[in-house]
Amino acid sequence: MAIIGSGNIGTDLLIKILRRDGPLRVAAMVGIDAASDGLARAARMGVATTAGGVDGLLNLPQFEDVELVFDATSADAHLANWAALEPTGVRMIDLTPAAVGPYCVPVVNLDDHLDAPNLNMVTCGGQATVPIVAAVSQTAIVSYAEIISSISSKSAGPGTRANIDEFTETTSAAVQSVGGAQRAKTIMILNPADPPVLMRNTVYCLVDSDADRTAIGHAIAETIDTVRAYVPGYRLKQPVQFESFTAGNPLYIPETGKFIGTRVTVMLEVAGAAHYLPAYAGNLDIMTSAAIATAERVAIHTRDTSRAIP
Ligand SMILES: NC(=O)c1ccc[n+]([C@@H]2O[C@H](COP(=O)([O-])OP(=O)(O)OC[C@H]3O[C@@H](n4cnc5c(N)ncnc54)[C@H](O)[C@@H]3O)[C@@H](O)[C@H]2O)c1
Repeated sequence: MAIIGSGNIGTDLLIKILRRDGPLRVAAMVGIDAASDGLARAARMGVATTAGGVDGLLNLPQFEDVELVFDATSADAHLANWAALEPTGVRMIDLTPAAVGPYCVPVVNLDDHLDAPNLNMVTCGGQATVPIVAAVSQTAIVSYAEIISSISSKSAGPGTRANIDEFTETTSAAVQSVGGAQRAKTIMILNPADPPVLMRNTVYCLVDSDADRTAIGHAIAETIDTVRAYVPGYRLKQPVQFESFTAGNPLYIPETGKFIGTRVTVMLEVAGAAHYLPAYAGNLDIMTSAAIATAERVAIHTRDTSRAIP
């Protein structure tokens, strides 16, 4: 496989894959900035590199062995990269919020998309919060979900900063289509605090009528354990909170009027494994670990199905 994008996300992904003993082998690291730290690290780790972008990748002798590509550039660059790579038949795992392929949040819907040529990994905020909304949706109708993701400014490279609109739109779309919420809003905060803060996510779900609090609490706890299997630093910051709104005490929502039901509030923190940036950058880990979990499953599925067809 190859990685395009030698910034924060691409370099964290490279280090993680090289440390694993899974089915993925790194054939090349691709960038456009010959002086980037990511390309220098890849070269030091014995990986072929090119600063020639996707054309450089297509011209590398190692490209012959590439079956899967991770794109960690930016949403616009992804469109051009995919236009160049799609005709070659490689599979694409897209870590930008370009949303070309179906949204993939491994703990919720990976099995639905194992044959998709291009899989979109949504956003770091989406990987952290969509599983929670999906957990609440298992037992209740989520008429509205709002998520607030706060990441340290230092962990957001130029690619992330260029994609704030796409972050907001893609995350909201995934909260609805994968998480099951009827409406959704996403807010992203780049926090410049120094020392940098850990990634935090707050999820509000408005649940129609009386909610089964025990069932929702269990579903959230199970989901957190499942995500922790690949991001050990993913945890609840406080116990799940439930607030009831009755006819005599409704919640007023400007767009839709009075809401009667339950508000579920889930506060999450994500500490990273500090493979590239320090532990505050859990936003890198939640994305790169989800992408690796997806790619490994796709690789095993592809190997098994190609064996089954003589
Ligand atoms: N940083 C995060 O927390 C985070 C989390 C999840 C997803 N993302 C997404 O990942 C992408 C990268 O974010 P980042 O923070 O790593 O940004 P970054 O700026 O650190 O990295 C992007 C890298 O891609 C390279 N690049 C740009 N255009 C290219 C092209 N056409 N071909 C090859 N290389 C190219 C840049 O030189 C840079 O090294 C963004 O789309 C962002 O939305 C970021």
